[in-house]
Amino acid sequence: MARLLYLECSPHAGRSGSARLLRPILDEAGASGLRVTTRSLAETALEPISTGYAQAITASDQRHDDVLACSGQLIDELEHSDGVLISTPMHNFTVPAALKLWIDYVLRVGRTFVATPAGKIGLLQDKPVLVLVRSGGVCTGDDARQPDFLTPYLRHVLHTIGIRNVQFSYLAGRQPPEHAWADARRSVLSLLDTLSSTGASA
Ligand SMILES: Cc1cc2nc3c(=O)[nH]c(=O)nc-3n(C[C@H](O)[C@H](O)[C@H](O)COP(=O)(O)O)c2cc1C
Repeated sequence: MARLLYLECSPHAGRSGSARLLRPILDEAGASGLRVTTRSLAETALEPISTGYAQAITASDQRHDDVLACSGQLIDELEHSDGVLISTPMHNFTVPAALKLWIDYVLRVGRTFVATPAGKIGLLQDKPVLVLVRSGGVCTGDDARQPDFLTPYLRHVLHTIGIRNVQFSYLAGRQPPEHAWADARRSVLSLLDTLSSTGASA
């Protein structure tokens, strides 16, 4: 049975436009056998990075440190998924603070990547990831009137831990056109198809 991690990053949680698109699709997929783990960063806010955490991740033995529990749980959720759906708004040209915090807990030296003289090498198994980006203005293509630091940043973050199969889909503007919603829906269904056709194991 395939397992999907759904990472919901909007401060509006289930009331965001993206969640209103995604939650019914995922409910239906769940009823058909997909195992969905929802991590809503608004409904359950992550604690800011503490001094203890900052010290622990640079310690030589990280295994028994309680301060790493939250990080361990978030990494487990990622590792135990066959695919990931990240639904995020753009905030000030990049990822919202809630998603940045998730990244700070998940990118952990010695756990999800190793640092070598040649650069960082990811330790996680590759898996399909779809990032659905919601923005107030257009942020890609010739019509963009703002920089997009979100896409290259998130791609680099995921590459760092070994995840290279990353697709992006964009819902831009205060009221994205129907075709944009249809494209986003198609991208999500394609991810779910991939998961079910790979016959990911329990
Ligand atoms: C703090 C903040 C910063 C924002 N920065 C940007 C931005 O840089 N570019 C943009 O196009 N929209 C920006 N927006 C608008 C949101 O991306 C837009 O309202 C989006 O639809 C929110 O999606 P959501 O309802 O899923 O949270 C910002 C919104 C907030 C609250």
